[in-house]
Amino acid sequence: MLIITIDGPSGVGKGTLAVNLAEELRLNYLNSGSIYRSIAYIAEINSINLNNTEELINIGSSIIFNIKPDSHDVEIIYEGKKINNFIFSEETAKRASKISSNKKLRLSLVSIQRSFAKEPGLIAEGRDMGSVIFPNAEIKFFLTANNETKAKRRLNQLKEKGINVSLTQLIDELNERDKRDLTRKASPLIIPDDALVIETDNKSIKDVKKEAIKHINNCN
Ligand code: DC
Repeated sequence: MLIITIDGPSGVGKGTLAVNLAEELRLNYLNSGSIYRSIAYIAEINSINLNNTEELINIGSSIIFNIKPDSHDVEIIYEGKKINNFIFSEETAKRASKISSNKKLRLSLVSIQRSFAKEPGLIAEGRDMGSVIFPNAEIKFFLTANNETKAKRRLNQLKEKGINVSLTQLIDELNERDKRDLTRKASPLIIPDDALVIETDNKSIKDVKKEAIKHINNCN
């Protein structure tokens, strides 16, 4: 089965590239960040301490990911309610980054992530897709961008969702989050050995997609 992984820090355009490739190649799609964000969100609304590993694992095993056929849309359901629209804030992202350094929690989420790999194949995006979750993936990408580009992209994404934050605040938050994701002991963000690194500064999604498709065709 064809598995393509896309890793990188926040704001490099992983999600946009992943959705575009999933649509073009008609593959399934895993947004692994949404799993960490969902757990962080549920913990937040239930006032659960972010160090309470057992509770976090319980939440993770209670969330249902409804994969819709022929669509990259995945419904995230907790206690019968769809929570997709509540997990996008930077506050939730920060909490997601905090809980994601928990090794036991990460281990408990390996099988759910691997279960997204269904015929005809999968595009998986996140921080440890090519390094830990799908180390044998046929094709791996790692996206990068400078801090300002990353923050501007995130700002636009948040604006589209009706969330307002300042650019300087966002640069600080993204830096803090990236630093935490890069330096944690459990599955830190790394460039997998066999990944193609795409630098995305000053490139449109069309340019990045073109580079990715060229690499995919060269690998076949
Ligand atoms: O991709 P994102 O910004 O939605 O991810 C939110 C946080 O979740 C990120 O800062 C770290 C964590 N995460 C992770 O540790 N491993 C992944 N594969 C995906 C996300």
